[in-house]
Amino acid sequence: MCGIVGYIGKKRAVDVILKGLSYLEYRGYDSAGVALISNNAVHIYKAPGKLSNLKEILSQEKEENINANIGIGHTRWATHGLPTEVNAHPHHCNCGSLTIVHNGIIENYKDLKPDLEKKGCKFLSQTDTEVAAHLIAHEFADTKDLLKAVQNAVKKLKGAYAFCVTHKTMPDRIIAARKNAPLIIGVGEGENFIASDIPAIIEYTKKAIYLSDNQVAEIKTDSIKIYDKNNNLIANKIENLPFEPIALSKMGYKHFMLKEIHEQPDVVRNVLIDKIKSENLAVVLDDVKLSKEQLTKINRIQIIACGTSLHAGLVGKYIFEELTGIPVDVEASSEYIYRNTIADENTLVIGISQSGETADTITAIKQAKEKNSHILIITNRKDSAMARLADSLLPVNAGIEVSVAATKSYMAQLLSLYLLAIYMAENSTKCNNSSLIKEIKKELLTLPSKLETILNDTKNIENIAKKYSSFKNFIFIARGINYPTALEGALKLKEISYINATGYPAGELKHGPIAMLDETMPVLAILNEGVVYDKVLSNCEEAKARQAKLIGVTNFIDEKHKNLFDDAVIIPEIPDIVSPALNIVVLQLLAYHISEYLGKDVDQPRNLAKSVTVE
Ligand code: G6P
Repeated sequence: MCGIVGYIGKKRAVDVILKGLSYLEYRGYDSAGVALISNNAVHIYKAPGKLSNLKEILSQEKEENINANIGIGHTRWATHGLPTEVNAHPHHCNCGSLTIVHNGIIENYKDLKPDLEKKGCKFLSQTDTEVAAHLIAHEFADTKDLLKAVQNAVKKLKGAYAFCVTHKTMPDRIIAARKNAPLIIGVGEGENFIASDIPAIIEYTKKAIYLSDNQVAEIKTDSIKIYDKNNNLIANKIENLPFEPIALSKMGYKHFMLKEIHEQPDVVRNVLIDKIKSENLAVVLDDVKLSKEQLTKINRIQIIACGTSLHAGLVGKYIFEELTGIPVDVEASSEYIYRNTIADENTLVIGISQSGETADTITAIKQAKEKNSHILIITNRKDSAMARLADSLLPVNAGIEVSVAATKSYMAQLLSLYLLAIYMAENSTKCNNSSLIKEIKKELLTLPSKLETILNDTKNIENIAKKYSSFKNFIFIARGINYPTALEGALKLKEISYINATGYPAGELKHGPIAMLDETMPVLAILNEGVVYDKVLSNCEEAKARQAKLIGVTNFIDEKHKNLFDDAVIIPEIPDIVSPALNIVVLQLLAYHISEYLGKDVDQPRNLAKSVTVE
């Protein structure tokens, strides 16, 4: 969280930085700021709220103040201190010559602060970052060299950071450093870029250096020098960036979220390509680096993830246990860490993360690695920190996801879990159930066209969204493999409409939540033909008897129950085990249209960030 952009070259730095920050707003958007060096002076501009507020301030500024060719910018997700102007980055030293933008948390800032205060540092904000500004400034006073100052200062910092530093007296360089937070250096000709993520710079260059932990870089217009933690200069490893600028356009859709929901049929095709050719051929997963012998020895699977990725993991539990017979635990990464988890070399630990950056999941994965478990990472970012920790890396190839609420990446994660479970079943001697495996493969291959059936006619869902948008509370229920779908559907609604929505296993309704039911609390039930269908219907009857409005999401309603539901969305025929991949699209659309109808900020809901790099 928090987005950083730095620029040095011939262009107007403020333009490059503001444009770059607009692509990083998904990382946080509660305030923004820039620092520019022009005419031997530092000019800092900050504004609380979205980037547009900062743009407004800059549009009224005198050209001579902002006509700089070097600058750093930041979009913030508050950790320490309210999202006010004073807490917005860049922060600076007492005299304002040194400026810094920072992503992460300086954990020992309270230990460092008293000493700096004794030395005369004046703290203006409540942030941890300001400590780093003063610390580096003091080192600079001793060394008169910005690179050395940063190299000395980082040795005193604990926690996670990616930052850029400039100094008025050295307008020919930006110093960048990272530890446990992403930072890339875009390589240009006569200009260079620094950013938290690729979208910020992809318009200008497709070549970049991924800074590694504990490295410090000195970036000038025509040189990039990278130093390791012992201050040794190391060779630059320039890589080609994987995205095209087109991925960042809404392509005519009103919001990125809607575009990304509609991309899902192609995402499924993309995930399946070359992996399942037909229901009669084995799944090919070259990315799994486990031998048949190792696979057969696996006696436990642990899935670790956060948020939407955690819900994909919960669906995965049902699939793995059904197809492989191996017991699966699924746990929120933040609960997995800081306790004695039971895992060994026969445990397969699966980390799922859209961003590959989520701090809790990274810590959990590192913890599992110490137990010698095989680490398999399912991520949308094969260039991420988590990917680098993987023994096996399964990139999901959903393409860049801009909307903060995850949709297509969830779909790609689900598909990857089906593929992995089938692959494990087919390659282990414990494999059984080959007819079910064949059926799932067949269904996965027809999934894109079934998704298109839903996406091609969303009028009914839009009407339901409008009808229910004024309710303040919702309960989502389901059983079995769709219970996680209920959780994910409720999460989507909460995230983007701020309506209180809770997912429950349908059978649990009567053990407490039913006390909440009356005509003000709609119940959305997901029910697919299969073993739990009749049971969910009974739970719906119980809700109806308490006057709750009922919305059904189902592939089948028989004559007897036609009048049970106040509203229903009928999805194409699909076996229960694959149905989460269809049902979720209905819930994504419902959440989207409710949020849109209520006029909420669909792509950037309040208080959230797409990538959460703090524990
Ligand atoms: C944030 C996002 C969620 C996401 C979660 C986990 O909270 O807002 O949409 O599901 O992080 O992110 P990851 O990148 O690890 O999947």
